[in-house]
Amino acid sequence: MSFSTVGVIGAGTMGHGIAHVCALAGQTVVLYDVDLPRVEAGLRKITSNLDKGVEKGKVSPADRDAALARIGITVHLRDLAGCDIVVEAVPEKLALKQGLFKELEGLLPPEAVFATNTSSLSVAGIASVLADPGRVIGAHFFNPVHIMTLLEIVVHEGTRGDVLARTQAWGAAIGKECITVKDFPGFATSRLGVCLGMEAIRMVEQGVASAEDIDKALVLGYRHPVGPLRLTDMVGLDVRLAIGEYLARELKNPAFEPPALMRQMVEEGKLGQKSGVGFYRWG
Ligand SMILES: NC(=O)c1ccc[n+]([C@@H]2O[C@H](COP(=O)([O-])OP(=O)(O)OC[C@H]3O[C@@H](n4cnc5c(N)ncnc54)[C@H](O)[C@@H]3O)[C@@H](O)[C@H]2O)c1
Repeated sequence: MSFSTVGVIGAGTMGHGIAHVCALAGQTVVLYDVDLPRVEAGLRKITSNLDKGVEKGKVSPADRDAALARIGITVHLRDLAGCDIVVEAVPEKLALKQGLFKELEGLLPPEAVFATNTSSLSVAGIASVLADPGRVIGAHFFNPVHIMTLLEIVVHEGTRGDVLARTQAWGAAIGKECITVKDFPGFATSRLGVCLGMEAIRMVEQGVASAEDIDKALVLGYRHPVGPLRLTDMVGLDVRLAIGEYLARELKNPAFEPPALMRQMVEEGKLGQKSGVGFYRWG
């Protein structure tokens, strides 16, 4: 049995996308954020993305309207009480995620699943504050959620088998290709992606080739849709630097250590796409 009513906590970059795919797949969605302007902004983005889907002929006008009708917005956590699953997509702060789940524990029935969209925190760590950590699982979506098909499901040691099975069924029902990964630093995606990115930066530092040619090597030689340096620019050098430091420490592996060039670029404000300059010039 999958889920029919989904609570999404946080209507930002990831939260609005998760609400979008669930509603389009026929599920009732309750989208929650701290204030009305933010939750309304999330709903506006969903509407705009669904409109684009209609323009491109990927979504019918009737499906768009039905999806939007299935989404309720709220600024009251208690409105999530009827959900079968809640997915949190709030900022990457352990205490914030723990606090929300702790509060929800008192509101939702014991069989409801608590999923976290964390991209780097320990799922077991988030679950550790609950009376029943077994209901917690990682549901790591990718940006933009309505386009990217991967769902990385992360199980910690205590995640119950039925929680995993229901989450896998749900992932398939909302059109995602699921992989199941142990709760280990970097999961599968960040660990491989960041490792490649750090090595590519070291190659620029060593003068092996230009950023453009290193990216071309992976795009044309290995069929990567985007090269590791362009991707680092898109994610943000500061964001990747923090993840690299974390993975180097947790995995005790110097391959993740951010190269000096990366640190220098971050100090100079060359953060990639968001600042206009990184390994490429943007905008
Ligand atoms: N952005 C990405 O590409 C990406 C990809 C995968 C996973 N993630 C993870 O998803 C999570 C959310 O990231 P994002 O990029 O969507 O962040 P974001 O900043 O775009 O959105 C976060 C939202 O959470 C809301 N929020 C803050 N405190 C809250 C609270 N107490 N209760 C409810 N809502 C609250 C904010 O108002 C905001 O709307 C993070 O854990 C991040 O690591 C992000």
